[in-house]
Amino acid sequence: MKFFVDTANLDDIREAYDLGVLDGVTTNPSLMAKEGISGHDNVIDHYKAICDIVDANVSAEVISTDFEGMIKEGRELAKIDDKIVVKVPMIKDGVKAIKQFTADGIRTNCTLVFSAGQAILAAKAGASYVSPFIGRLDDIGFDGLELIEQIVGIYDNFGFGTEVLAASVRHTMHLLQCAEIGADVVTCPLKVITSLLNHPLTDKGLAQFLADHAKANG
Ligand code: G3P
Repeated sequence: MKFFVDTANLDDIREAYDLGVLDGVTTNPSLMAKEGISGHDNVIDHYKAICDIVDANVSAEVISTDFEGMIKEGRELAKIDDKIVVKVPMIKDGVKAIKQFTADGIRTNCTLVFSAGQAILAAKAGASYVSPFIGRLDDIGFDGLELIEQIVGIYDNFGFGTEVLAASVRHTMHLLQCAEIGADVVTCPLKVITSLLNHPLTDKGLAQFLADHAKANG
């Protein structure tokens, strides 16, 4: 199972990468805006900065919503670094763009996926990753994890090469259930990954070990 960190914050990306378990980074326009990154050149420079930190793939999202615009933008993003995966929204022109990028050898992440039908389209177009959003489905009273399970099952049925990248993962239970279901990748904020470290018995046990060692060694 791969861990991606879902942020454009360079400190968080550095910390996640330094932990030694990071397989990738996903960003989106909202996450870039949150870091105050705006304007064409600044956006490109920020992606370069992320690629300089990690030896892992980095999803960079197109803003255009028409085929020509997405192709132009995606090609420019892909030129930044071999680590870039072009993130494309699940809309009609997005599906066509994914098909074209696949033919051009550019890896893609199909984002804003909320149904199994959309996931099938993304896979048939040749997306490298499909990003179903768990938390946002939960937010409106649907079961995001059920969708992950459905997509994993369908992809297994047909041997689709597209990796299921569970997105909008908000807490550790989401992550653990994705692991049980067999999602290929989860992308989540850094705190969800570091939360996996926590267990009170680990803290208690370590304190005891250190106290006993101190007693025995004066
Ligand atoms: O990057 C897409 C997704 O992970 C966003 O998550 O928490 O904003 O729904 P969230």
